[in-house]
Amino acid sequence: MKIKADNTKPNKKKTQILCSLVSEKSNELIGLGKLNPKLNGALKQSLKEIKGKIGDLSIIQTFGTIPANKILLEGIGPKNKITTDILRMVSGNISQKVRSLGISEFSLIVPEKFPIDVKSFVTAVVEGATLSMYSFNKYKNEKSQQTPSLSILISNPHKIQEIISKAQIVSEGVLFARSIANLPPNDCPPDQLVRFAKAMVRKNKLICKVFSKKEIKQKKFGGITAVGQGSVNEPKLIVLEHLKGKRNDKPIVIVGKAVTFDTGGISLKPSDKMDEMKFDKCGGCTVLGIMKAVSELKLPINLVGIIPSVENMPGRESYRPGDIVRLYSGKTAEILNTDAEGRLILADALSYGEKKYSPSVLIDFATLTGACIVALGNNVAGLVSNDKKLANNILNSSEKTSEEVWELPLNQDYMDMIKSNVADMKNIGKGRAAGTITAAAFLANAINNTPWAHIDIAGTAWTQDATKKKSYNPKGATGFGVRLVIDFLSRLN
Ligand code: BES
Ligand code: ZN
Ligand code: ZN
Repeated sequence: MKIKADNTKPNKKKTQILCSLVSEKSNELIGLGKLNPKLNGALKQSLKEIKGKIGDLSIIQTFGTIPANKILLEGIGPKNKITTDILRMVSGNISQKVRSLGISEFSLIVPEKFPIDVKSFVTAVVEGATLSMYSFNKYKNEKSQQTPSLSILISNPHKIQEIISKAQIVSEGVLFARSIANLPPNDCPPDQLVRFAKAMVRKNKLICKVFSKKEIKQKKFGGITAVGQGSVNEPKLIVLEHLKGKRNDKPIVIVGKAVTFDTGGISLKPSDKMDEMKFDKCGGCTVLGIMKAVSELKLPINLVGIIPSVENMPGRESYRPGDIVRLYSGKTAEILNTDAEGRLILADALSYGEKKYSPSVLIDFATLTGACIVALGNNVAGLVSNDKKLANNILNSSEKTSEEVWELPLNQDYMDMIKSNVADMKNIGKGRAAGTITAAAFLANAINNTPWAHIDIAGTAWTQDATKKKSYNPKGATGFGVRLVIDFLSRLN
């Protein structure tokens, strides 16, 4: 999407549609300033009608009284309750409305006095516009309408273009994650993920190493080997390095579950909604989106992305309930349900990340448990961590980006719930009790002493039954976590 800062006064701006925000109660036109008196009458009339509730929208013809052809008024709710997330949604609503009208270009006024600072305002507007224009139409012959371009009208455009560009890079990272996550499983087996990663790496000058099925087995990634052996689509372990920090700075390692399709394996899932398990690669896609954005932002940090990728299928070579596998950490795991596969491949990736990179921090993203949806629903992700400071930093970033997370506890009692009679651990807990935490307890066993945070995105990685409608999260994969981690990383320096 083309977005630029422009210091033309709103009443002088030649544009197809001039957009202004309207607050509820005070019924204030935010930023329109002095317009032609004739037009003021029409505006006052519309203000009576729209009330300024979030989503209220009204369009007025200007009939040549000002250079803009039309004025669009959009409600933002009460001014004292405004948040950046409301701005993101409002900006998305406006962009979608403009696109549906077939208009190729529009302008939005940045108010001079507003409860939200200019940088946060512009970032939210850019994110809302860019993310709301996404739709997954790769497989449709009929394409959706063209994305309009946006002029952000601001009286002091100093440094605003830089803020716009940064927000665009971050948003493009989210769109990249979505565009891969939405792909159907027949077109996105593990080796296809590798191709996407390699193409991105070439463009963005990252370093990429991919382990083949043979290497995965040789290097004793027992979890990835076991889960991956049931499919003709061979497992891959993708490692991406962005080493642009100080030489001696320990890197941050991010890990993402990429099960390109999760049938459950021999412990086969019921067929209802099984198609949605194409989204079981969302954690890995989040990592790809983060690596793309971080490399384009040229953040001066050391960051490593690790993506274990498999297809979980039943077949004559599948792993089975009853199997005992030895993980990369050396610990053994009794398999009691082949549908609890994510923790096996993640455990290998986390142990590898810790051993190879001695990171300062490990963060993983995974559509790990249905139990997380039962506990937190479709608008909040689960957070489990072994480090209070890290968890708090993640909560802070989450608040900033409105990708909500909620922390769940992890103590020895939960660790005990995955002890096995015949191996070091078993891959499921006791019944359905605390399913999200027992999965995290399994992961905790893969790590020695590195601060680690696990984010279960089963409920938030794509739009589901109880997902709150937000213009900037259209149907399908959301790219949850990309904006959050970039905010987290940006605060390090
Ligand atoms: N990928 C699923 C988790 C999932 C389910 C994510 C539904 C989003 C929506 C995971 O591999 C899985 O199947 N987990 C099992 C674990 C159980 C067997 C202990 C689950 O949640 O049912
Ligand atoms: Zn599963
Ligand atoms: Zn899964």
